[in-house]
Amino acid sequence: MDIIQAIENRHSVRSYTGEPIPDEKAGMLLSVIDQCNRAGNLRFQLVRNEPKAFSSPLARYGKFSGVMDYIAVVGPKSADLEEKCGYYGEKLVLEAQMIGLNTCWVGLTYRKIPGTITVGRGEKLLGVISVGYGRTQGVPRRSKSISDICSITGNEPEWFIRGLHAVLLAPTAVNQQKFRFSYKDGRVRAESGSGFYTRTDLGIAKYHFETASGKGPEIWE
Ligand SMILES: Cc1cc2nc3c(=O)[nH]c(=O)nc-3n(C[C@H](O)[C@H](O)[C@H](O)COP(=O)(O)O)c2cc1C
Repeated sequence: MDIIQAIENRHSVRSYTGEPIPDEKAGMLLSVIDQCNRAGNLRFQLVRNEPKAFSSPLARYGKFSGVMDYIAVVGPKSADLEEKCGYYGEKLVLEAQMIGLNTCWVGLTYRKIPGTITVGRGEKLLGVISVGYGRTQGVPRRSKSISDICSITGNEPEWFIRGLHAVLLAPTAVNQQKFRFSYKDGRVRAESGSGFYTRTDLGIAKYHFETASGKGPEIWE
């Protein structure tokens, strides 16, 4: 599966078989986690074989089952921490999808188990990403349309529209999709609305946009 197929096929999966991820796949995830941590100055961690975070009534309320492994989304507090976590976390989500694993971003419906996740002084735990073999591949959900997130003028290049299609497939907290994109003179402006996790959502969406449009981070205004 290539990364565009990963964007198209990914859906949040909350019900897993309970089979821990094998060492080989864990090794692949660890190497991407390392890349993300270096590039973004982050402290993402892979927590393996730890079913307790998702065994509380809260997690069951969130319909999680069989979660054995997850990625802790941690980094030093800063103005751009949320967006950076979204961007690099989604890189991991798509890598996981490409190696046959399923995922779900989780901001709230899990419990932090003492001794599992390291959060240093001045750092923040933003949430986790469950990862494993889903009982299903998840299902497509309703989505905003391009005109809801961008006022199209007709002058936008094809790569911009391609990027927007991928943005609409990005996961967002409670499927809120609270962002707007616009194109001007070869560059792109992306803005998040207000509310919880909207800046994380924006980072996730920007990673989708860059991947599908074929542009790099220099595209952002
Ligand atoms: C930042 C963030 C936080 C999320 N937190 C939770 C959560 O606490 N519990 C949950 O069940 N799903 C959570 N989700 C998953 C969203 O509900 C899901 O991405 C959204 O409904 C869109 O569905 P899709 O991922 O299948 O495209 C979260 C997603 C994001 C991006």
